[in-house]
Amino acid sequence: MTPLIYNYQKIDDFAQDAAAAVEDFIALKLEEQDSVAIALSGGKSTIQTYQELAKNKKIEWSKVELFMVDERYVSQGADESNFKMIEKELLSKIDPIKFFHGFNTNLPLEKAAEEYDQILEARGRKAFDLVILGMGEDGHTASLFPKSEALKEKVKMVTTSHSPDGMKRLTITLPAIMSSEKVIFLIQGGEKKTMLKKIQDETSADKNIPAKMVLKHNHVELFILNP
Ligand code: 6PG
Repeated sequence: MTPLIYNYQKIDDFAQDAAAAVEDFIALKLEEQDSVAIALSGGKSTIQTYQELAKNKKIEWSKVELFMVDERYVSQGADESNFKMIEKELLSKIDPIKFFHGFNTNLPLEKAAEEYDQILEARGRKAFDLVILGMGEDGHTASLFPKSEALKEKVKMVTTSHSPDGMKRLTITLPAIMSSEKVIFLIQGGEKKTMLKKIQDETSADKNIPAKMVLKHNHVELFILNP
């Protein structure tokens, strides 16, 4: 199915509509199952949407399981930690959720990946109902960077990677993203305009752009804030 694309000029509209899409998805899934599993990305483009979700009084948080899409290999208290942002903007403000699963960055890198992979594997091939992703200017998503070894992982749900600046990362894999029921991209920043055109251009030769690979998913929505 062709990705649904929603363009915004105002951050409030972007964040409120994206949060409403998450709320609607949760309500829909809870009509057919007891809980909903959502994987959350870090980065800056997700912050306002998490703030909107934190204000939402209709979501049945006790039936929601939250997971992390990726993490920088830093302590949870470090400024770069995605967990720290998710905790501050969402987890600390909402009613108790069913479970939260994050990366244990106190473990050695490979062990941390292995532990999280075991958690996801135990959930079966569709670990997540919904995956919320961002996109970098280079077209990376989660911590899957162009030409990275992590993109070659076709079996495991979790692997390790590193960003171009060398920071070690932990990330869910393409199979984990593609096995989900729905993907929502939250993309902000004029510097991403060129890449956005590229990933939507079917004729563009460069097929190795991680965000473009995810657009093959059959249920993708892109919320784009055009500055
Ligand atoms: C991270 C994110 C990453 C992010 C993109 C976009 O760990 O940084 O998970 O994949 O979504 O880098 O980041 P911005 O939204 O800050 O541009």
